[in-house]
Amino acid sequence: GAPVEVNISKVEAGQLLRVIWRGKPVWIVNRTEAMLTDLPKNDTNLRDPASEILSQQPAYAQNAHRSRNPHYLVLIGICTHLGCSPTYRPEVAPEDLGADWKGGWYCPCHGSRFDLAGRVYKNVPAATNLVVPPYYFKDDNTILIG
Ligand code: FES
Repeated sequence: GAPVEVNISKVEAGQLLRVIWRGKPVWIVNRTEAMLTDLPKNDTNLRDPASEILSQQPAYAQNAHRSRNPHYLVLIGICTHLGCSPTYRPEVAPEDLGADWKGGWYCPCHGSRFDLAGRVYKNVPAATNLVVPPYYFKDDNTILIG
């Protein structure tokens, strides 16, 4: 299929934009400075903090923020356990998410948790980080997915 062009100029800090690419939900999050600062603090709670499983992201997203531009995270919005749709929980820290929660996604089907780089927590059913699709920046305000 053709790449999907997304205008990100109106995605405010902390917001998530949903688009569809090849029939799959894709999320684009404009991460705040605070969100980026918190990312490395959570590494010990994660199964694959350095994104070493190569199939889960393109090489250009195998870095600490799992993205080309640190602020803009692009992910396929499908749980890597059995394919449910995880819920965006950027700030809320409900008891059931644990004291180590610094924001990310919670999958309501079997309780898998992912941080704000889509990295999977330890001790949850999902074994791998959320998938980063291929994408690039056409210009500062435009992402092409695919
Ligand atoms: Fe998400 Fe099972 S499908 S935890």
